[in-house]
Amino acid sequence: MATLLIKGGTVVSATGRTEADVLVDGEQVVALLAPGSQLLGTDVGAGVDQVIDATGKYVIPGGVDAHTHMELPFGGTFASDTFETGTRAAAWGGTTSIIDFAVQTYGQRVEDGLAAWHGKAEGNCAIDYGFHQIIGEVNDASLKAMDGLIDEGVTSFKLFMAYPGVFYSDDAAVLKAMQKSAATGLMTMMHAENGPAIDVLAVQLAEAGKTDPYFHGIARAWQMEEEATHRAIMLANLTGAPLYVVHVSAKQAVAQIATARDNGQNVFGETCPQYLYLSLEDNLGAPGFEGAKWVCSTPLRSKAEEHQDELWKSLRTNDIQMVSTDHCPFCMKDQKELGIGDFRKIPNGIGSVEHRMDLLYQGVVDGRITLERWVEITSTTPARMFGLYGRKGVIAPGADADIVVYDPSGHTSIGYEKTHHMNMDHSAWEGYEIDGHVDTVVSRGKVIVDGGAYLGRKGDGRYLKRGLTQYLV
Ligand code: URP
Ligand code: ZN
Ligand code: ZN
Ligand code: ZN
Repeated sequence: MATLLIKGGTVVSATGRTEADVLVDGEQVVALLAPGSQLLGTDVGAGVDQVIDATGKYVIPGGVDAHTHMELPFGGTFASDTFETGTRAAAWGGTTSIIDFAVQTYGQRVEDGLAAWHGKAEGNCAIDYGFHQIIGEVNDASLKAMDGLIDEGVTSFKLFMAYPGVFYSDDAAVLKAMQKSAATGLMTMMHAENGPAIDVLAVQLAEAGKTDPYFHGIARAWQMEEEATHRAIMLANLTGAPLYVVHVSAKQAVAQIATARDNGQNVFGETCPQYLYLSLEDNLGAPGFEGAKWVCSTPLRSKAEEHQDELWKSLRTNDIQMVSTDHCPFCMKDQKELGIGDFRKIPNGIGSVEHRMDLLYQGVVDGRITLERWVEITSTTPARMFGLYGRKGVIAPGADADIVVYDPSGHTSIGYEKTHHMNMDHSAWEGYEIDGHVDTVVSRGKVIVDGGAYLGRKGDGRYLKRGLTQYLV
């Protein structure tokens, strides 16, 4: 087995930082050593196959993005990144594990939906990958199938209180699935927006000629998110299900989650980079059809209402525990363009899987979060939340050697179609400059990105059978 020594860097964890050399044997970390250690009288670096000089740089556990949608069927088309292109882009940005959403569509068997997702991913991924299960139809068969998910290493499922006629679950369905969640320990993940009420507003707006992308954000008002978040929390409270609210964007939804957590309920929240930086006015409201680039659900919120400061604060106070991308890219041409003249037909989603580590690192530079909190919300907590901790989310003996060498004196211009690696014909992040740089990415002991070169291969990534959540309020 090949050995690798990452020398001279500052190893950062969720709880602190230390000057240490990291020794990797094969696919795993075997030791953290005091700088310049001698083992059995010899210089450690002398006997290893490969040495990476990390002097002046941060050595962090690889990012874990717990919310991606490669090839998701949506709005009459498919998310434009395949598992091959999307995981390679993730690797470029310092993410070494993703958890994607296998889909059970309405009328389909859960087992078949999951098998189809294995079929898409197997042999194609650059980095390790796991699955959550979308339950698109709660019925006797799907409830029974959920009993088998844990053995498959799928320990969480997502329901939608939004998108009537597509993935929507009504309250009765939510209640039944949450009872299953409470009985099995499966984590309930919730898309918390009041879909039926949103659709009424959307029809009224469209009929009034308000068809620009901007009105996507008006139809999906924060009240729709707050109300659904509250309802989900109450149903979880009643049933005893652990609840993870995905893509939280409204400060009022944050407050609902914070209150539940203060009451000791196992309720967790995730936000995404787009809600921390982008807005209804500047992005969704861009002239003409340009705003379509930023149509996603939950929507970008109004700058004037100051959701962003509250979201950053919630990341410091642990009212929100982690940041995922909800990576769901669509090209403008032939995809977003389906909604020219009717915002309801624009496929929902933004592509960011490549940029999450950088965008959150900028939060460190800007004094929003600490260096340790950066590692925690992008790697350690996602690993703990979804049953991967120990293997992922930490640099320690016995952990998978998923490691990123991050240069705080480097610089990254992220927002350009020509330089990113996602399969998109535009970027949602044009003009974003990051005061840091992903130098080297190691995935299970193999250097896959180094000095601007991609050294990985499709099929390097393995399926991650996950355990139950390791996170409690
Ligand atoms: O706009 C989004 N978020 N698209 C992906 C599907 C979802 O709801 O997560
Ligand atoms: Zn969603
Ligand atoms: Zn999503
Ligand atoms: Zn800069």
